[in-house]
Amino acid sequence: MDFLSRMIARLEAQKACLDHAAALITDLPGAVLEVGLGKGRTYDRLRTLFAQRAIYAFDREVHCAARLRPADDRLFVGDFRDSLRVAFEHLGRSAALAHVDLGTEDAARDRALADAVAPLLDRLVLPGGVVVSDRPMQVPGWRALPTPAQTEAFAYYLYRSASAG
Ligand SMILES: C[S@@+](CC[C@H](N)C(=O)[O-])C[C@H]1O[C@@H](n2cnc3c(N)ncnc32)[C@H](O)[C@@H]1O
Repeated sequence: MDFLSRMIARLEAQKACLDHAAALITDLPGAVLEVGLGKGRTYDRLRTLFAQRAIYAFDREVHCAARLRPADDRLFVGDFRDSLRVAFEHLGRSAALAHVDLGTEDAARDRALADAVAPLLDRLVLPGGVVVSDRPMQVPGWRALPTPAQTEAFAYYLYRSASAG
């Protein structure tokens, strides 16, 4: 698939998965985590979907447009491996949804980072909470959920946490 088509497929998969996840957590109060603020595209979709929820964003640097920048008290700047620990100290287990968007063209790097991020996220996500991710994650107590049709062209992953530990 050419680069432009792949980008379009990715954005369609992201939007479909986030919209689907919103329906999955309708009855579960809690915060939303955006792990990989980037240019703020998916963060802005989360703002649209979850106007009534606290949304916390994570990135090692802020390079989104000013209008998309989260308030300072909703922003964790630093490496995910540090900032997710800090977030747990402040927020505890309080997230109904986490969206992870950390992928690059380097599959080995992405796998190692996803493996490091997954257990840190597990502490933050409520039992019954949902994790949407651009890379597969394996956590005891997380159950893979069916994904929308748009993920056929660009893989995306959905999990439901049953963990309370
Ligand atoms: C694919 S982009 C996110 C795109 C964003 N969700 C959007 O829709 O615009 C991934 C982001 O993760 C950040 N990132 C990658 N590895 C990181 C790490 N180890 N710690 C913190 N941030 C990281 C990058 O700075 C980048 O902004």
